[in-house]
Amino acid sequence: MTDQAAIAVGLATAALPTPPATPPPRLERVALPGLVRGVTIELWQQINAEPHAAGRILSQRLRRDRSLGSKGRRTASAVIYGLIRHGEVLRLLVRCAGGDPADPLHLYLTWLVVGDGLDPALAAEQLPGVDFALLTDARAIVSEQAVGLEPAQALALGGSLPLWLAQTWWQELGAEAGELIAAFAQRPPMATRANSSRIDRASLAARLAQEGVVSTPGRLAPHSLVFEDRRNIHILPSFREGLFEVQDEGSQLLAELARPSPGAHIVDFCAGAGGKALALADAGARVLALDVREGALRIAERRMARAGQSIRYQLMEEHGPPPVEAGWADTVLVDAPCSSSGVLRRHPEMRWRLTPAWVQDRADLQRSILARAAPLVRPGARLVYGTCSLLRQENQAVLADFLAQHPSFEVQERLGDDGVLWPQRTGTDGFFGVAMVRRGA
Ligand SMILES: C[S@@+](CC[C@H](N)C(=O)[O-])C[C@H]1O[C@@H](n2cnc3c(N)ncnc32)[C@H](O)[C@@H]1O
Repeated sequence: MTDQAAIAVGLATAALPTPPATPPPRLERVALPGLVRGVTIELWQQINAEPHAAGRILSQRLRRDRSLGSKGRRTASAVIYGLIRHGEVLRLLVRCAGGDPADPLHLYLTWLVVGDGLDPALAAEQLPGVDFALLTDARAIVSEQAVGLEPAQALALGGSLPLWLAQTWWQELGAEAGELIAAFAQRPPMATRANSSRIDRASLAARLAQEGVVSTPGRLAPHSLVFEDRRNIHILPSFREGLFEVQDEGSQLLAELARPSPGAHIVDFCAGAGGKALALADAGARVLALDVREGALRIAERRMARAGQSIRYQLMEEHGPPPVEAGWADTVLVDAPCSSSGVLRRHPEMRWRLTPAWVQDRADLQRSILARAAPLVRPGARLVYGTCSLLRQENQAVLADFLAQHPSFEVQERLGDDGVLWPQRTGTDGFFGVAMVRRGA
């Protein structure tokens, strides 16, 4: 095999699903006609008709179909996310096994064989025309197909990514891009942040253990605990008492970049549902949380009440002046709306939204938001810019333009590697974050 072919094979197979050693319980039952199979296939058809709304369609339907039961809902959701994360590879495997990749039942059963470890003979009973036995060596099939591909094409196949995005990350990371798509193919761990004004991390871990939850300290964020298994947190007394929040470690690190200190005035300019605002308030800062979406701020208010914190929330116009006087803030955090290219493991459906035009649109919005937020920073104070994107266009390019147009600001600190938290290196979601200082204190 030539070097190029070996690289292509490595990239195309990097994110292949591996069936669990012990197949999930009731796997055989969900392969047969029945409620779970029917709902999942119907969901897949709806999602294909309206791909941008995949997350909403999935959550609304699963909430509505109570008869599925919690296990059925979990199965349907896991299969749908499997089909989204591995769509390209699954279509290839279906074709190689003599099936029809446009038929949702073919994809569904293929996922159960390749992703969940269903006995191929049982799948073949459902669809006698498809040679599911071939799929037990999915790696060999994908490798063979990858041999003639360019590296970026192989990455697009293995990661089920648009080709332009695969080209971008291939250029940026080379063979390490395979590790990135492998990280995106994993379900994210359940990371939490101890509400440190009420309980320290070790005491929270002990309290969780009493509630039957095994957790370990996160690798990077000082207040983080990572659950060994995903849990319904809403039934945990410690959650109801506001002792912790669910928050990715990368998101916690971005909030830390704002250096929240007791009494500091912090404007969270894009507060959304308040994940970072809560972390800032937990450190004792006086937080003013702004956003253009009223619904998000209502959620943030509910979270604040549970956490027992005090944050001022204010709705703001998308264009007019922000509702706070210039120079008020010791720190302004701009956690900007972005393409979400860094959180594909959490929102795999976002890959369908990622077009160059959409990314450009996000970058334009980020420039205008940063320019509106900057005057709120008092001289000598901090402006933190962050996104959950891994694209230069939204990160380094927006920052460079901002610095060129605002010479009174200079970069003081960066997250991770030159501002970037790469999931394959940190185990976090992908984030970009820089802290600038406004000269002239
Ligand atoms: C990445 S999300 C924020 C997440 C939030 N900081 C958290 O930690 O949970 C970006 C937010 O920017 C808001 N946004 C969109 N356009 C905006 C604008 N023109 N000005 C301010 N915020 C905007 C969105 O409503 C969204 O809530």
